[in-house]
Amino acid sequence: MKIFTSKSELSDALKDLKAQEKQIGLVPTMGALHEGHISLINAARQQTDVVVCSIFVNPTQFTDPSDLEKYPRTVENDIQKLEQAGCDILFLPEVSEMYGHNETWHIDLGYLESILEGQSRPGHYQGVTQIVYKLFQLTSPDKAFFGQKDYQQVLVIRKMTDIFKLPVELIMCPIQRSEEGLALSSRNVHLSPVEKQQAYTLSRALLKMKEHAAEADASAVRQAGLEVLNAEPGIRLDYCEVLDKDTLLAPDAASAGRVALIAASVGKTRLIDNMILN
Ligand code: PAF
Repeated sequence: MKIFTSKSELSDALKDLKAQEKQIGLVPTMGALHEGHISLINAARQQTDVVVCSIFVNPTQFTDPSDLEKYPRTVENDIQKLEQAGCDILFLPEVSEMYGHNETWHIDLGYLESILEGQSRPGHYQGVTQIVYKLFQLTSPDKAFFGQKDYQQVLVIRKMTDIFKLPVELIMCPIQRSEEGLALSSRNVHLSPVEKQQAYTLSRALLKMKEHAAEADASAVRQAGLEVLNAEPGIRLDYCEVLDKDTLLAPDAASAGRVALIAASVGKTRLIDNMILN
C-alpha cells in the first residue's frame, strides 16, 4: 500500500492510474478503523480497480472541541488493517494540508441539515460536505463508499453531489454489527462493559420496529421502538424516528420505504443507529 500525506503526491499517482483507465474507488474515513470500514474497502475492491482510503479527523465537522480531542486515533493499527484488506493507497494528510487560513464554506443543504443529527450538531453537515467535496475534487473517484450507519450523511453527500453535478457514484454499504447487534462505530471504544450492555438496546428497538414494519401508521411503529428504549434507564434518548427512506421527511402513501433512526447517549458516548424497515 502506498501512503501519501500531500495532495500533490496523491494527485500525481492518481493521474498515472487514470491514464491507464483504472476505476478509482474512494473510502473516506476518520480512522480508528473497524470491520465496518473494512467492509467498505472490500466493496471498493470488488467494484473498482484502485482503492483509495483517506484517514483525516476533519475538524470542521466537530461541533464540540472536546469531542474532536477525544476522537480515537489509531493510525499504526489502521495502516495494518488497510494493508491486510488490500487497500492500494492511503491518503493521510495533516490539517494544514487540507485547510487554508480562515477558509469558509456554505452550501444550501435545505432541511436536511437542520433535522436529526443536524439539529443536535449544528454545522456538522457543512463540515462533512466541505471535506468530502475536497476529497472528491482531489481524487475524482468513479465510486465513493459510505456506511449506512451514517444514513443522513449519505443523503447529505448525495445532495452535495447533485448541487455540484459531481460525476461520482455513491455506494451505501450495510451496517456491520457485533454479535449482540451493536452497530460498529469508532466511538464504541469509549463504552464500558455496562454501557455496552445498555447500548444493545438501540438495535433491539430497531428490530422491534422492523417487526411492526407492516403497520401503516408510522407513529405506531415508532411507539414500539420507544417502549424498548424507555425500558432502559441507562439511555438518554435524543431521537427515535420513522421517516421516508429517500427524503427523511414524514412518510406518506407515496413513500417507497421507511427507515427507523435512533440517536442516544450512553454514559458520555453518543450513538446513532438505523434500520431500513421496508
Ligand atoms: O463518516 C465519516 O467518517 C466522516 O464523516 C467522513 C465522511 C470521512 C468525512 O470526514
